[in-house]
Amino acid sequence: MLTTIAPASIWDLRRSAKRRLPRMLFDYVEGGAEDERTISENVAAFSKIKLLPHRLRDVSKRTTDVDLLGTRIAAPLVVGPTGLNGAIWPNGDTALATAAKRAGVPFALSTASNERLEAVAKVGGELWFQLYVVHRQLAERLVDRAANAGYAALVLTVDVPVNGKRERDLRNGFRIPFRYSARTILDALTHPRWTASLLMNGTPTLANLAADNATTLQAQNALLRREMDASFDWDDLARLRDLWPRRLLVKGVCNPEDIARCFAIGADAVVISNHGGRQLDDAVSSLEILPQVRHLGPVLIDGGVRRGSDIVKAVALGAKAVLLGRSVLYGLAASGEAGASKALSILFEEIDRTLALLGCPAASRLDESFIAATALLPATAQGCSDQPPGQ
Ligand SMILES: Cc1cc2nc3c(=O)[nH]c(=O)nc-3n(C[C@H](O)[C@H](O)[C@H](O)COP(=O)(O)O)c2cc1C
Repeated sequence: MLTTIAPASIWDLRRSAKRRLPRMLFDYVEGGAEDERTISENVAAFSKIKLLPHRLRDVSKRTTDVDLLGTRIAAPLVVGPTGLNGAIWPNGDTALATAAKRAGVPFALSTASNERLEAVAKVGGELWFQLYVVHRQLAERLVDRAANAGYAALVLTVDVPVNGKRERDLRNGFRIPFRYSARTILDALTHPRWTASLLMNGTPTLANLAADNATTLQAQNALLRREMDASFDWDDLARLRDLWPRRLLVKGVCNPEDIARCFAIGADAVVISNHGGRQLDDAVSSLEILPQVRHLGPVLIDGGVRRGSDIVKAVALGAKAVLLGRSVLYGLAASGEAGASKALSILFEEIDRTLALLGCPAASRLDESFIAATALLPATAQGCSDQPPGQ
C-alpha cells in the first residue's frame, strides 16, 4: 500500500501549495514587487546570521513560550495579516485563526479578509485586527467594529500608500472577481481540487467592506487595487492612537527615525516589515535593521521566516516576536486548517530543537551571546567601541 509522506519542512508545504493552487493564485502568494530582490534578500538575511552555541548546559527541559506585550504566548511568533485567505482555502481566515488559537499564538486578521471581522472574532484566542486606511471614515468605522468585537490589538499597516508593482499579478491579470480567459480556465482545469472548492463555496468577497455602508463597491475596488489614503500622516496616527483603546502596533516601518516617532506617539510596538517584498523592491530586510533599532521599544519583525532557527535568530537579535506570512499560507493552501497547523507545529518543533542544539533552555533567555559577530551587526552590537582608535 502506498503511504503519503508527511511534510517535514515549510518548503515541503510550499511544494504541496504549488501543486494545489492555480498558477495565478500561487503567484499572488509567492510574488512580490518588480525584480523580487527584496523577497530573496529577506530569506538570505537569515542565512547570513551564524549561530554560536553554548555547550555543557542543561537543556533537558525546554520552553518556547515568551511574554509579548503583556500576554504569554506559546512561542515568539504571530500569524500575520494576509488578504484574500478565502481564495486560498474556503473560510481561510477562520482556518488560520483556529490554527493560531490551537497553537497558542496570536492571529492578525487583515482588513482585506474574506470573512467579517465579527465572524472571525468568534474563534477566540489572541486576535489582532490589521487596518488599511482606504479612507478615513471607513477606517474609523472598522476601528470601532474591531473594538466592539473584542480584538486585543490594532495593527496599522503603513507601507501601502500605493500598491507595489507586482508583475506576476499584472501578467496573470489577477483580480477579484476572477477574470476568465482561455489561460485562466486552463489554469483552473489543471488544478481541479482548488477549482472544485471554489465552485462549491463561490468567489470570495472583501467581507469587512461588504458588511459596511453605501461606499462598498467603490471601497472594495479601491482596496483590491490598493488605492489607500496616501495622505495619511503622523497627525492621523496620533488621532488613531486616541481612538483605539487597546494595544496599537505600527506595521511596515523600517527607518529608525520613524520607529522612534511611532513610540513617541504612543504605539505599543512596531513591526519592522517590507511587506514580504511586495511593496518597495530593494527595501532593507527587517533582520538587517533590527540591531540598530531594538533599543527604541518593543520591536517585532517579519519577512522571509521559513525555519524555527530564523525565529530563534530574530529573538536573539532583539525581536519580541516574528510575524509569519507565506510560511503559514503554504500550509493553508496545501490542506486548510490542518495544513496551517502543520506549518506552525513544524516551526515549533524547529524552535525547540534549535534551542537544544544552541544550549539555551528557554526562548525567553535568547540573547546576542548566541549569535556569532557578523558583518550584519553594526560595530556597537559587536562590542566594538564607536570611538576612533586611541580615544
Ligand atoms: C498573500 C499575501 C497577502 C498579504 N496581505 C497583507 C495584508 O492584507 N495586510 C498586511 O498588512 N500585510 C499583508 N501581507 C504581508 C504580510 O503581513 C507580511 O508582512 C509578509 O508576508 C511577511 O513576509 P513573508 O511572507 O516572507 O513571511 C501579505 C502577504 C502575503 C504573502
